[in-house]
Order: sequence, then structure tokens, then C-alpha cells
Amino acid sequence: MTRRYVSVLALAAVLLLSIATVSRSKGLGGKGPQRAPRIPSEFSPEERVTMKESLKGAIQIPTVSFNPGEYNTTALAEFGQYIREVFPTVFKTSFIQHEVVGEYSHLFTVQGSDPSLQPYMLLAHIDVVPAPDQGWEVPPFSGLERDGFIYGRGTLDNKNSVMAILQALELLLIRNYIPRRSFFIALGHDEEVSGANGAQKISALLQARGVQLAFIVDEGSFILDGFIPSLNKPFAMISVSEKGSLNLMLQVNMTPGHSSAPPEETSIGILAAAVSRLEQTPLPNMFGSGLPEMMLQQLATEFSFPVNIVFSNLWLFGPLVSRLMERNYITNALVRTTTAITMFKAGIKVNVIPPMAQSTVNFRIHPAQTVQEVLELVKNIVADDRVQFHVLNAFEPLPVSPSDDQALGYQLIRQTLQSVFPEVNIVAPGICIAQTDSRHYAHLTTGIYRFNPIYLTPQEFRSIHGINEKISVRNYETQVKFIFEFIQNADTDQEPVSHLHEL
Ligand SMILES: *[C@@H]1O[C@H](CO)[C@@H](O)[C@H](O)[C@H]1NC(C)=O
Ligand SMILES: [Zn+2]
Repeated sequence: MTRRYVSVLALAAVLLLSIATVSRSKGLGGKGPQRAPRIPSEFSPEERVTMKESLKGAIQIPTVSFNPGEYNTTALAEFGQYIREVFPTVFKTSFIQHEVVGEYSHLFTVQGSDPSLQPYMLLAHIDVVPAPDQGWEVPPFSGLERDGFIYGRGTLDNKNSVMAILQALELLLIRNYIPRRSFFIALGHDEEVSGANGAQKISALLQARGVQLAFIVDEGSFILDGFIPSLNKPFAMISVSEKGSLNLMLQVNMTPGHSSAPPEETSIGILAAAVSRLEQTPLPNMFGSGLPEMMLQQLATEFSFPVNIVFSNLWLFGPLVSRLMERNYITNALVRTTTAITMFKAGIKVNVIPPMAQSTVNFRIHPAQTVQEVLELVKNIVADDRVQFHVLNAFEPLPVSPSDDQALGYQLIRQTLQSVFPEVNIVAPGICIAQTDSRHYAHLTTGIYRFNPIYLTPQEFRSIHGINEKISVRNYETQVKFIFEFIQNADTDQEPVSHLHEL
């Protein structure tokens, strides 16, 4: 996930509050004939050792993204070599095409035997955020194993997925698996700094080839364990939308002058007042825009008194819940477009009235709003013609992906959860408040699901982009198992509803 991800996941705490539907899955199993016998997800002791050693090796390659366009290219090249070494079967299988895109990103096209089934895509990213040694129990790029955990930058975000996807495929291929449904695996190399050279290029390539996808599975949320005090069991949150973003520069120009005879107002004073107004005027609370209430009601029975009563009577308690959510800065991010003043620049000399003052504000846009709407609101709040607005960059929130019975991707995740994590009986669609590479693929599919099949505690959540990021060996093995089963489950005959159009 991108740097802002940490605050994102925080939503975990809130996820439940803002989005959620209990799903007691009927599953897709049995709906279509399975032509090949199912390959059990059982791995030998040797395979399990190889599995974790391969992950450690991946962690040891410091594929750090520093800034857009600025990454450790040596490490990225080395990583490309590394996956060829540890997953030889993937690279030599005749029905798998491998391409390097944007120099360091990887696209695998796995050709299924049944071309009538619409392909899907698994996403992950190779790059990681920087990790200074300070505060770590073991060096962040050591990949050391301690007390059942593998430590290191990227163990949760997101080399675990990169390696688990290829590992699961490798193990399937060794067992002579031939997929029926085609799929793509896209591994970006600059997700942490925009995805412009990786995901965007892969996406353009697929679009040029006319590819349409049944769905995409990317990182973005987890099986959340211990995030909600009144909910005593873990629940799987599948993010079905992602907030948008707007970086807006505010600028004020004034005639420069000497400080001995100052004007009534300076560029600094005008701009400071403007950003202060923005900070003190939160954008509207969007609780009530659809999704959350209905889902909270469905979830209500999972909570104990009095939360269950509150959630099942939102007609009465809605305003209360909405206000409570505003109070916590994490839940607040789920109910509205957030405003963060991130830069302020003005003045060059102690005795000169500066001609110009600039400030940058980062907005994270709620799925119920658009960039344009946010811009209008902001201009009205600032309400000062002397302030100019420059959009540095912006992207819209992602549309909400379907999570109903017909949603193939969502149902496949649910079905696989049931067999791999039978103890998890709550599956909730959520909003991802961070950014993922999947946003670059929105024109290829309507079903984008952000979900990592691993348990995450609040403490582990904080380690992402923080210190002592680690994954338990068990969690990692289970992730491989999940993908191993998921790929087989995806061979179902059930088709997404959109195919009806072709009739
Ligand atoms: C880049 O990666 C290489 C290994 O591939 C490593 O030796 C080097 O120290 C890294 N450079 C930085 C600046 O992290
Ligand atoms: Zn990530």
C-alpha cells in the first residue's frame, strides 16, 4: 500500500462501523462441473521450508521506492532475477507468458484451457517504503526468523502477496495443474510512489490488447483481529472501494515591499487565514450516503449489547453513530473527505514583505463525492478572490464494486475464506482509505477487491510502513494455501452477469 496506508488501515478499527455486511456464504461450489479433480492444498515439510526461505530471500532484496521515479533499480533488477530462480516452473511453463513492463514490473499471462471463461487478475507490488534500522529488533532487510515470525520490510506490504501468488502457482504447476479460466498476475514496482511506471503501463498494455477482466484481487485489507472492542471475533474485510485524492496548491501573490512600512495584509497573513478556515471547516459528513447504514444493520447481531441495539436502530441512532465516528480521527476518515494541510512556504528575508505565499493541501475524497465537488466546497470555504487554486494532481474515488450473490470475485473470496478460514464467519465489504495499484485498472473491470488473506492485529497494522513489520510463518503458509485454493475455485463455470450482454 502507499505511504498513507497506515492511516488507511486504521480504518480497520472503523471498517466495521462504516461498512459491513455479514455474509453467511452460500458459496459458488458445485454450481459448475469441475473437469479436473481438485488438487488438495497440502504441502510437504520440504515445500514448507522452501516456501518460507523464498520469502526471506525476497525480503533481503531492498526494493525501496524513495520518490516518484526514484527507486533502487539495482534491487529491482535483482528481484526480477530472483523470482526466476525460485519459481522455475512458472517461468518455463508453456501456457504462461511472462513480460517485463516499465523495466521492472512483471506481467504473467496464464492461459486457461477454456477461452469462454472471462479472465481475472491477481495484483501485488514488489517495492517497499524505506526502512531506517532505528527501532527495529532485527535489521529491516535481514528477513530473519524469530519465534515463528519472519521480520522485515515488505513482509506484510506487500512481498508476502508477490511471493505467495507465485509460490501457489509454482506448487500448482508442479502438481500438473492446468487452469480452465485464464488469469493475469501483475506485479508493480512503484506502487508506493504512484504506480505510474508499473501498474499504469501494465494497465495500458492490457487495454491495448482489448482485455476485460471478470475481477481483480489486490492488497488493501485483512482478516482483522481485535480491532473492534465489542466484537470478540475476527472478521474478513474486503474493500470494495477506495478513496480518491486531490493535492491542491493555494497561492497568494502581493506586491513585495519593505517591512518598515507594511501593508495592512501580507501574502502570508491572507494565505494563513485561508488554510486556517479550511482546517476549521471540515468537509461534510457523508454518513447516510447509502452503504454504511444498511450494512451496520446487518452486522448488528454480531455485537453485544448495547452496540447491537444501536446498529439495528439507525433510524433512531444514526445521527449519534455519525457524530461518534467523527470524534475519532480514524473513523472520521471513513465518513468524510479529509483535509490535511501538508506544506506551507513563504518569505525569504527577515525584513522583506514576501511577494508570494504557497500552501499545499491534501484531500482524501470520500466515495460519495467527486474531485469537482470538493474543489467547489473548498473555494466556498476559502471565499477570498486573492487566493488562487492550482490542482497539482487528483483522482476520483473508485466506484463501489459489487458484493452481491452475482459478484464472482467477491463470492470466490468468500468461498475460499470458508474453506481456509472456517473460523471466520463474518465477511464485510469496506472502504480502503489508502491507495493501491488497483486504481490504475478501474477501466478493465467493475469488480476490484482489496483483500489479503492473513490475520492482522492492531499492532501488526501499525508495523506497516512502521517498525518491526513481520509475518508469522503460519500466516504466510496460509496465504499460499488460500491462493492455491482460490485459483482452483476460480475455474468455476459461473460467469459474471455482464456476460448476459453478449447474448
Ligand atoms: C540497492 O540495492 C542493492 C542490492 O540490490 C544494495 O546493495 C544497495 O545498498 C541498495 N541501495 C540503497 C540506496 O538502498
Ligand atoms: Zn502496499
